[in-house]
Amino acid sequence: MDEQNNLQQTLADVLELNNKGTHTTPAAHLYPHQWLWDSCFIAIGLRHIDVKKAQTEIESLFRGQWSNGLMPNMIFSDDRQYSLDRKMWSSHLSPFSPGDYATSGITQPPVIAEAIVRVGEKMKKTERIQWYKKMLPKLVAYHEWLFRDRDPHKGGLTIQVHPYESGMDNSPPWIIQLHEQGKPWWISFIEKTNLDKAVNLVRRDTTHVNPGQRMSNIDALLYWNIIRRFKSKSWDIDKMLHKGDFMLEDLAFNSIFTRANQILLKISNETRVKLPEELVERIAQNKKAIEEMWSEQEGRYFSRDFITRKPIEELTVASLLPLYTGVISKERAESLVKLLKDTRHFGMRYPAPSVPVSSDFYSPDRFWQGPSWLNTNWLIIDGLKQFGYIEEANALTKTCIDLLEKSGAFEYFNPQSGEGLGAKEFSWTAALGIDLINTKS
Ligand code: GLC
Repeated sequence: MDEQNNLQQTLADVLELNNKGTHTTPAAHLYPHQWLWDSCFIAIGLRHIDVKKAQTEIESLFRGQWSNGLMPNMIFSDDRQYSLDRKMWSSHLSPFSPGDYATSGITQPPVIAEAIVRVGEKMKKTERIQWYKKMLPKLVAYHEWLFRDRDPHKGGLTIQVHPYESGMDNSPPWIIQLHEQGKPWWISFIEKTNLDKAVNLVRRDTTHVNPGQRMSNIDALLYWNIIRRFKSKSWDIDKMLHKGDFMLEDLAFNSIFTRANQILLKISNETRVKLPEELVERIAQNKKAIEEMWSEQEGRYFSRDFITRKPIEELTVASLLPLYTGVISKERAESLVKLLKDTRHFGMRYPAPSVPVSSDFYSPDRFWQGPSWLNTNWLIIDGLKQFGYIEEANALTKTCIDLLEKSGAFEYFNPQSGEGLGAKEFSWTAALGIDLINTKS
């Protein structure tokens, strides 16, 4: 027990270290801004320490909400040293962006409904209803925006327009699609002439973390180039979705969105505040549409190319996340539990890796191409519980806590050795560790 108290204290210290008053940054130096799904996971941990602080963490996210409902994946620090980051995105070009804060122009997996409810669980009923009523209109605006701007054909699933929106920056399906697109001449030139090494001079991540644990400079340039293109379209969604551009129905994002919609219904039920009719209809459609991401041929869930409608048959941790929706069929849920335990794929000594050992992409130290991350494992644990796999959920919880005892709150971990990688004192690892300690049975 003492050991666990010590661990909880160490993890709480990480959150304190990265606290900026209104919000918590993911990690000092490497990630100096506020990120959307990071703050949601952080609030889920903070609720065990201080509910008010957890509320502030969530409320501070809405500072960045656009008037059309978009929740940006980043709200930039206003410190002078980060003027280039703000300029790179230039959110002010959009008439919808907030006047007071510089933000990105894209979003991230919508974990915010989950965070609101988890924080609400820590309150007395009257207080909780008040909290929900305060958050609901903003949350509704965000979900309506997701359906309106990101599901223009009303098919039930949403499109992601940049790999950052998946939250798993260099996950194989995105890298595959990116390389299929072909490179602009100037990036090919940089590659051929080996000038890409110079990119390290402007990359914040590779100055803080071993480049072998991050994405390549050429891929980083290609990502930057998408932002540059969107900026030139002033973040106007009609222009951004112009045909021929690069878009995915990302499996992790859509799984999280499906769950978030179910949570929205729950909040509406508990507060007795009716949701707009059209939103209710689209939520019902979305609940069914997630099953379209199942490939009958492969017997697995995959992300899908929005243009060709073809599944991108590359196994990643996202293939396990439909469990978290809570709404897929029992048979398919069971097949995912088997896949999770299968030692040829995700069943490793440490928590589920971001890419299974069976994949050609598997690289145990490289960002979202192999390492284990705590947030995806937290989502899997929740999904296991929803489908009644309590023993499996407890076992995975224990593996996660043991890993934190062994290595500390790193950003990600080698799934074979448990070695900590990336940023050293990473907020969501700390926060979700606190949550797992406090919710384990
Ligand atoms: C990296 C991760 C992303 C996270 C961000 C801040 O870009 O891929 O998911 O939100 O860092 O921690």
